[in-house]
Amino acid sequence: MSIHHQYDAVIIGAGGAGLMAALEASKVPEVKVAVVSKLYPTRSHTGTAQGGICAALGNVEPDSWEWHMFDTVKGGDYLGDQDAIEILCREAIDLIYELEHMGLPFNRRPDGKIDQRNFGGHTREFGKGPIKRACYAADRTGHMILQTLYQQCIKQGVTFFDEYHVFDLVLSGGKTAGVVALCLATGELHTFHAKGVFFATGGCGKMYQITSNAHTLTGDGMAVVFRRGIPLEDMEFFQFHPTGIYKMGILITEGARGEGGILRNDKGERFMERYAPTLLDLAPRDMISRAIYLEIRDGRGIGGEDYVHLDLTHLDQEVIKKKLPDIADFVRTYLGIDPVKEMIPVQPTAHYAMGGIPTDVEGRVVIDEKNTILPGLYAAGETACVSVHGANRLGTNSLIDIIVFGRRGGRHMAQFAKSVSFPNWPKDAEVPLQEEISRFRSGKGKENIAAIRSELQVSMMEDASVFRTESGLKKMEGKLTGLKERFKRIRISDVGAAYNTDLYEAFELGYLLDLSDAIVAGALSRKESRGAHCREDYPKRNDSEWLKHTLCYQKNGKLELKYKPVVITRFQPQERKY
Ligand code: FUM
Repeated sequence: MSIHHQYDAVIIGAGGAGLMAALEASKVPEVKVAVVSKLYPTRSHTGTAQGGICAALGNVEPDSWEWHMFDTVKGGDYLGDQDAIEILCREAIDLIYELEHMGLPFNRRPDGKIDQRNFGGHTREFGKGPIKRACYAADRTGHMILQTLYQQCIKQGVTFFDEYHVFDLVLSGGKTAGVVALCLATGELHTFHAKGVFFATGGCGKMYQITSNAHTLTGDGMAVVFRRGIPLEDMEFFQFHPTGIYKMGILITEGARGEGGILRNDKGERFMERYAPTLLDLAPRDMISRAIYLEIRDGRGIGGEDYVHLDLTHLDQEVIKKKLPDIADFVRTYLGIDPVKEMIPVQPTAHYAMGGIPTDVEGRVVIDEKNTILPGLYAAGETACVSVHGANRLGTNSLIDIIVFGRRGGRHMAQFAKSVSFPNWPKDAEVPLQEEISRFRSGKGKENIAAIRSELQVSMMEDASVFRTESGLKKMEGKLTGLKERFKRIRISDVGAAYNTDLYEAFELGYLLDLSDAIVAGALSRKESRGAHCREDYPKRNDSEWLKHTLCYQKNGKLELKYKPVVITRFQPQERKY
């Protein structure tokens, strides 16, 4: 038995991309919009984004969208699609003012304009030096965006299904027909028949042991479409943010370095002078994360351990109070350290998937190297790959990505929904999910979900994180085969219907295993180093063979890789020096 719903447009996920899409779609008359989210909307992970959202407003110093575009292309090691990057950087400017008019409380300058600060990889005049481009609301920018957009959606009358977990995508006659979900509170199955389905389910960092991602970041949307034969793009590119709290991974915003924070090794040296003489601690994240690991390998981690220090002790206390209050609280709470007086122990933390569900610039999901569209299916945000971040995302570009492409996708989907009739709803649409649930529930094996997850996380950290080699990746491939075998023998101990998190975690672990497979397959195949993908056995970027996007398909339980060209318009690949 299931409960059936019908909406013109169904958006999965209530973070920034989902809410922006919902807001835009709901402005189109006669289009019935619903948001289905496994979390209460304001608990979505956008709320943890700290340091800023960038746009070339030029409020502090002269700036231009072309410089922003150049930085994004170069930061992404030339793998980003430049048609999409141009849209991102051009539309960013108006959208910041739109957010301001919705009520977002940005920090301001004495003249009343939105304040802007430095962030990694953002430069003036095509790389001449750092620029203040990140608009911010203290170090809780994402939280403010989420609250603002949610309020606007409520005002607009968007319907929300909070704490409904989508586990399947329904396709019918080559078109998107809807999704199947479970209601957390009751365990009841709900089917959503729709003309347009929009995945905005965020990232998947929980396959790594040290991560800034919350427990819920299990790549559900990516995995659901992957299992339906849709490829994932560029999954081998996973960003490690240089400054996670040691052993915990909790983010210490790059805004701390934007305000003048310095990374130091055991000798107290500002080691970034050796790796990025122009941008120093504001180099892109892939470079700084590698630099930290190299310092540690050479014995210059603090006390010989696997961390370095982030030094904020020279900053004005008022700067910390007004611009970095949350991270100061985190450090006090989790480490018992006062960042005004003591340095913060940090290590790289798995932060962001550059890859995801391939889309065009209207948010439409594309399914092959010719960019063929799957009618009615949309995606935006971290779950998608449009691709504006290429091989390495610049800080603050993810928040602007969700706003720009959330809006474009939401608008397009609403117009699409107006122009078509409902696709056929297959009679047995919920059967695959019902069968999977009964397989989980009837499992008599002895394997434990948390144990498998934690082995996955430790191994991915060792063999598929910042530095990679063929032997490490092969080892990881073998490990994944073993973990997937064990996954078939898991036992769900909770037999109840209401809030059966045991059952949900079984699904989520399956997703993490599938996505890790895609990361490892792409990383093994890509015999070069580019952005966040650093192969020690192939240390150079190789444009003649590898300036192309990976498309990874799952077919009958096996992976198949294909490739598609990168869109290059204004900026030809160059050597990447900072
Ligand atoms: O460091 C940060 O505040 C993170 C920002 C981002 O990932 O864009």
